[in-house]
Amino acid sequence: MLNKKIEDICNRQVEREGYSSNLYLAMASWAETNGYSGVAAWMYSQSDEERIHMLKFIKYINERGGKAIMPALKKPAGDYKNVEDVFKEVLKHEEFVTASINEIVALTLEEKDFNTHNFLQWFVMEQVEEEASVRIVLDKLRLVGKNSLYEFDRDILTLRRSAANTSTTV
Ligand code: FEO
Repeated sequence: MLNKKIEDICNRQVEREGYSSNLYLAMASWAETNGYSGVAAWMYSQSDEERIHMLKFIKYINERGGKAIMPALKKPAGDYKNVEDVFKEVLKHEEFVTASINEIVALTLEEKDFNTHNFLQWFVMEQVEEEASVRIVLDKLRLVGKNSLYEFDRDILTLRRSAANTSTTV
């Protein structure tokens, strides 16, 4: 059975993963309406993954005798200066999520909740991968000039597909 502190912080993560999904949908929509179909596909796929992260927390809370709470989601910003600006925001957000997961890990140790500690290990590794994949995209963007954005947009689709082939599902 989850103790109240762990249940609450896991519910906080339900909201943060749900917001992540919404944030990437907003970015997908921005990309789609600005002609970047590759970036849009990357973001839609990222949004789906975040929903899966949210579901993992919901199911875990309920399975352990807690009660998952469906959150109201904040409205994400819908406007960005350019593609690089979008991915900088993605990295900033993922760093925030990593810190959030680490906080839960720290609390599980404090509370001696080793089951939840174990459950979180998947997320610890996932955050390493997510931050790394965004850094690859940002490095790529630094290499291309404005004129090559068309190729970049096509390339990023391949990146997403190869990542999808190696990632774990629920
Ligand atoms: Fe679910 Fe991208 O963190």
